Amino acid sequence: MRAVQIAPSILAADFSILKDEVRRCEEAEVEMLHLDIMDGHFVPNISFGPDIVKTIRRLTRLPLDVHLMIQQPDRYARTFIESGANILTVHLEAHHDVRRTLDLIHSLGCQAGLALNPLTLFARSIPYLDQIDLLLCMTVNPGFGGQKFMPEVLDKIRQARQYALKHNKHYRIEVDGGLNTETTRMATASGADIIVAGTTLFHSPNFRSKVQELRHAASEALAAG
Ligand code: DX5
Ligand code: ZN
Repeated sequence: MRAVQIAPSILAADFSILKDEVRRCEEAEVEMLHLDIMDGHFVPNISFGPDIVKTIRRLTRLPLDVHLMIQQPDRYARTFIESGANILTVHLEAHHDVRRTLDLIHSLGCQAGLALNPLTLFARSIPYLDQIDLLLCMTVNPGFGGQKFMPEVLDKIRQARQYALKHNKHYRIEVDGGLNTETTRMATASGADIIVAGTTLFHSPNFRSKVQELRHAASEALAAG
């Protein structure tokens, strides 16, 4: 049976106590940390860069899932991998030769992910599915935490899952944006393997029990399917 993994999005953490926030994630036994990199061009917001990735790398041995919401991911892939990324995800819609960027990421010994904005059709990712370890389906328009989950993306998650089963592909499906207990249930039932959650975890009074609640929702959805 599929196992669903939880990836807290550090964007929603309190950066004044970053070390404690990372510790909270470890104590809650999450599988990885999700780091959102925004350049103010690909998305209308700026977050943080490689130095913060390096800092987090020093704080934990958890895998770092780095989501590049930047216009020229090929230019910065090496920097983020050298800063400690274990998975580097680039957007299909950014300005680059997607195939070459995915090759570059693998050649540097890192796992490669491909992200799709909510309105980007699954079909556009098909040429790259042999080359990726992870397909990230955005369930909000990228740029900001705390937005509302877009249920219209569920159909794309189902297509991605069915395609992998039918064609024996091994990419994992990650969902990102507006995940809470209810939407975790919906996304898992549709085929998600990795749940990225920012606001719902870091703004919860009890981080650990919130992680458990998401896991529980995911297991129920899997059992029902
Ligand atoms: C959105 C980011 C997400 C976001 C998730 O651009 O890619 O990772 O931080 O945060 P929540 O869970 O608050 O939607
Ligand atoms: Zn993200």
